[in-house]
Amino acid sequence: MDLSTKYLGLTLQNPLVAAASPLSEDLDKIRQLEDAGASAVVMESLFEEQIDVDSFELDRHLSGGAESFAEALSYFPDLSSYNTGPDGYLEQIAKAKAAVKIPIIASLNGVSSGGWIRYAKKMEQAGADALELNIYTIPTDPALTSELVEQAYVTLVSDVASGLGIPVAVKLAPYFTNLANLSRRLDLAGAKGLVLFNRFYQPDFDLEALEVLPSLKLSTQYELLLRLHWVAILSGRVQTDFAITGGVHTAQDVLKSMMAGAQVVEIASAILKNGIGYLKTIENDLIAWMVEHEYESIQQMQGSMSQRSVANPNAFLRANYIKVLSSYALKA
Ligand SMILES: Cc1cc2nc3c(=O)[nH]c(=O)nc-3n(C[C@H](O)[C@H](O)[C@H](O)COP(=O)(O)O)c2cc1C
Repeated sequence: MDLSTKYLGLTLQNPLVAAASPLSEDLDKIRQLEDAGASAVVMESLFEEQIDVDSFELDRHLSGGAESFAEALSYFPDLSSYNTGPDGYLEQIAKAKAAVKIPIIASLNGVSSGGWIRYAKKMEQAGADALELNIYTIPTDPALTSELVEQAYVTLVSDVASGLGIPVAVKLAPYFTNLANLSRRLDLAGAKGLVLFNRFYQPDFDLEALEVLPSLKLSTQYELLLRLHWVAILSGRVQTDFAITGGVHTAQDVLKSMMAGAQVVEIASAILKNGIGYLKTIENDLIAWMVEHEYESIQQMQGSMSQRSVANPNAFLRANYIKVLSSYALKA
C-alpha cells in the first residue's frame, strides 16, 4: 500500500503529520511520534512576542497603537517559562533533527512584519525542513478595512518567504470575506502550503467571579467539516498544497481530507487524548479501508471529492445550501 504524499516539496511516508503542540517540547515524544508513524512533526510555535519585545514595541508604535502599547503588553502571559524560549527553540530544532529521520517543521506565530521574522532564517539554519507561519490575529478596530488586514498577511508572508531556502506554509483562520482570493495572494507572495484552519479560541465567562476564563478544549470531529468544505473549494483553484488541521480524529477523517484535496492532515487533539500510539491505529485503519475499497495509493484519491471540476462553485454551493435547508423535515 502506497501511503506516501508530497507536501511542501517533501516526500512524506504518509499523510499523518503531528500538529504543533507541546509534544514537540520533548525529544522522547518526538521519537515516539516517529515510531508511531508520524511522517513529520510540526513544532510548537515560537511567538513574535517572545522573540523581541523591542521590535514588537517598535512595530506597534509604527502601526499607530503607541498609546495603548503598554496596556497591550500587560495582557500577555509571562512567556519566559513557555516552551524553550527563542534560543532554546533553535537548539530544540537541531536536537530533533538529530533524533529522528522524519522532517521537522518549525513554527513561528506572529502578525507584524518586524525584526522578529529574522528568526525564520535562524530556524532554517538550525535544520528545520520547512516553516509553518501561524498568523493568529483578530482585528477589532472598526476603522481597519479588510483590504488592509489582508495586505498585512500578504506582506508578512512575502517578507518571511523571500529570505528563506526552505518552504513556508501559512496557518490561517477561516474568517475572511473571500478566502479564495486571499489564498491566491498568499500563493503569489511565496506560500507553498496553506494549513486550514487555526481553531478560534473563545474564552468563556465565569458568572460568579465575573471573570473571563481562557479555556482550551480539544477538538471534536465536527470541526473537520469546515476544513473539508474549504479545501474542497480551494484545491485545484489555488496552486499551494493544503494541510487540514482541526477535527481529524480517525482514519475516515484522514480519507475525507485526502479526497477533499489535502496533501496531509495535522493532528493534535486525537494524539493528546488517546496517546501517541493512537497514530498507529489511524494508519492501520487507513490501510484496512484502502484494501477493502481497492485503493492502491493515497495520491490516487487526493482531490477526488474536490470541487475543481465544478464550473461555478458559488452557484453549486448556493444550490446545495438551498437543498440542505429544504431537506429538513419537521416532525409531525
Ligand atoms: C495544547 C495545544 C497546544 C497547541 N499549540 C500550538 C502552537 O504552539 N502553534 C500552533 O500553530 N498550533 C497549536 N495548537 C493547534 C494545533 O496545532 C492544531 O492545529 C489544532 O489543535 C487543531 O487540530 P486538532 O483538531 O487535531 O487538535 C495547539 C493545540 C493544542 C491542543
